[in-house]
Amino acid sequence: MGDKPLAGQVAVVTGSSSGIGAATARELALWGARVVLAARRHDKLEEQAQAIMAAGGEAFIVPTDMTDADDIDALVRRVIERYGQIDILVNNAGIGWQRSFVVTSPEDIVRMVTTNLLGVMRLTHAVLPGMLARRRGAIISVASVAGHVAVDPLYSATKYGVRGFSLSLRRQLQGSGVSVSVVSPGFIRSELTAGGRRLMPGPAIVARAIAGLVAHPRREVVTPGYYRPLVLLEHALPWLGDRLLRPRRTQRAGTAQRRADTESTTPAP
Ligand SMILES: NC(=O)c1ccc[n+]([C@@H]2O[C@H](COP(=O)([O-])OP(=O)(O)OC[C@H]3O[C@@H](n4cnc5c(N)ncnc54)[C@H](OP(=O)(O)O)[C@@H]3O)[C@@H](O)[C@H]2O)c1
Repeated sequence: MGDKPLAGQVAVVTGSSSGIGAATARELALWGARVVLAARRHDKLEEQAQAIMAAGGEAFIVPTDMTDADDIDALVRRVIERYGQIDILVNNAGIGWQRSFVVTSPEDIVRMVTTNLLGVMRLTHAVLPGMLARRRGAIISVASVAGHVAVDPLYSATKYGVRGFSLSLRRQLQGSGVSVSVVSPGFIRSELTAGGRRLMPGPAIVARAIAGLVAHPRREVVTPGYYRPLVLLEHALPWLGDRLLRPRRTQRAGTAQRRADTESTTPAP
């Protein structure tokens, strides 16, 4: 493994029991990293770890609920006990949502923000002191095209939040030896988008982008590349998005409620 670009580095990947996180764990292991898989489903983590080890990589699982601050502390403690360091952090765990905001329950609002945004901040906060002390580290957070294009009040809020947090942390840490990057995927085939009718690339495209950001840190990558014009358009001409995303008919709250109760929950990217 010595000649691999990430040989010996310790990578924590959240949400690695499926989809983008699982593909990223496999990719980083191929690049030589010792990979720590964290998510809630123990059996799925075990499956992913077995696949990595069967391919000659090293994997360690730590079942973790990212909405639980004690679990997050325990994750960092267990990785430090085992490996003594964390070189790479991939903040990927997340849940999707697409419903009319007015009918979303207060509990679901808290669950979404705690999983997608607060979990990213808490884990980064716990990992950062070790990286800064060693003047070495790479933090990559998975946002979304929906963190550039305002499509869903709750999901987009968390993904704009992940971008705002990461991009300003990146500025604060300039010259520290720790890089901070964001990857913003468009629609990707995974459990989160299951049931969606459009054709989507698999999660490997995002995994490769994340491994690339570890080796060659950049501010942000939007992937697949065909989403980049859409992102530029939203920044340059937001009124055009208002027109394109206008509901087909004016919805009063009651109408919105009935629609939301029956509509597909395929989330925004
Ligand atoms: N697929 C897309 O089109 C798309 C587009 C843009 C951005 N993204 C983002 O990409 C990331 C990965 O999504 P995916 O598409 O790969 O979907 P996925 O297959 O559903 O993966 C989501 C992962 O997050 C984990 N997770 C969810 N809640 C968690 C919690 N409370 N604690 C710990 N882990 C938790 C899940 O594991 P457990 O259930 O085992 O905990 C799972 O491993 C998400 O942040 C998502 O917002 C996806």
